[in-house]
Amino acid sequence: MHVLITGGSSGIGAATAVAYARTGARVTITYNSGADRAAEVVKRIEEAGGQGAAVHLNLEDHATIAPAVAQAGPVDALVANAVRWGTLAPGGAAFEDVPAAEWSAALHANVVGNALLVQAVLPGMRRAKWGRIVFVSSGIAEEGVPGPGPYGTAKMALHGMARALAWEAGKDGILVNVAVAGLTITGAQRPIPQEVLDGLAARTPSRRLSTADDMAALIVFLGSEANRNLTGETLRDGSNAGRSAHAV
Ligand SMILES: NC(=O)c1ccc[n+]([C@@H]2O[C@H](COP(=O)([O-])OP(=O)(O)OC[C@H]3O[C@@H](n4cnc5c(N)ncnc54)[C@H](OP(=O)(O)O)[C@@H]3O)[C@@H](O)[C@H]2O)c1
Repeated sequence: MHVLITGGSSGIGAATAVAYARTGARVTITYNSGADRAAEVVKRIEEAGGQGAAVHLNLEDHATIAPAVAQAGPVDALVANAVRWGTLAPGGAAFEDVPAAEWSAALHANVVGNALLVQAVLPGMRRAKWGRIVFVSSGIAEEGVPGPGPYGTAKMALHGMARALAWEAGKDGILVNVAVAGLTITGAQRPIPQEVLDGLAARTPSRRLSTADDMAALIVFLGSEANRNLTGETLRDGSNAGRSAHAV
């Protein structure tokens, strides 16, 4: 099985790459600015028993998308995980102060970029009469939080894209789902105080925030043969603390 994971140079994407590698998969990750980190992930893929490769892809620069997919070669599964974060700080710019350019940039990269990515992988999956597509989304999209309007709006658009694609591509054996991360401990530096993390954890059903490996397990399930006929669905990781979480 050959899997293409965008944003595989870091965080959830990197953990997902290694998790796929443990199943013996061939894994191509994409990176944007982190060529060195991507090379490290490729090493980890190979140490875990997979075959690894890294290609450059920038969702903001649409001209890089089809060439990256062509360089990867035909894929059985796509994990659309990369994100242009934009401004995320809750309590940042008021909604009415977010410039049009920020809206355009968020949607250009995270919505149109992912649509072009899917367009590039879909013909191969249709020919193979088999495919799995997993979009990685955020609890911020569904629950809302003051501040990151463009990010949340762009993520929610992926839910619509997944529903449309599930219907369009299902007849060719292609299953399309959304994996929704809540706040996930990735090892990347996040400017979130520990007491806020503890407060969020306390409001989850299992009283803990997920790690990147937890998310990886959900994504690998949705994007592999283990998923036999689940499609058009949105699965929420247990790190999603729900509406009450945003009151902290
Ligand atoms: N971590 C969380 O708490 C959390 C919560 C909810 C949802 N999520 C979602 O989970 C996914 C992964 O998040 P993460 O925390 O693992 O993020 P991360 O560690 O910041 O990694 C982001 C990845 O996206 C790539 N990327 C950034 N800008 C890009 C661009 N313009 N074009 C293509 N790739 C780009 C980065 O590549 P380079 O580093 O090479 O530039 C990196 O590989 C995202 O879709 C995110 O929205 C995460």
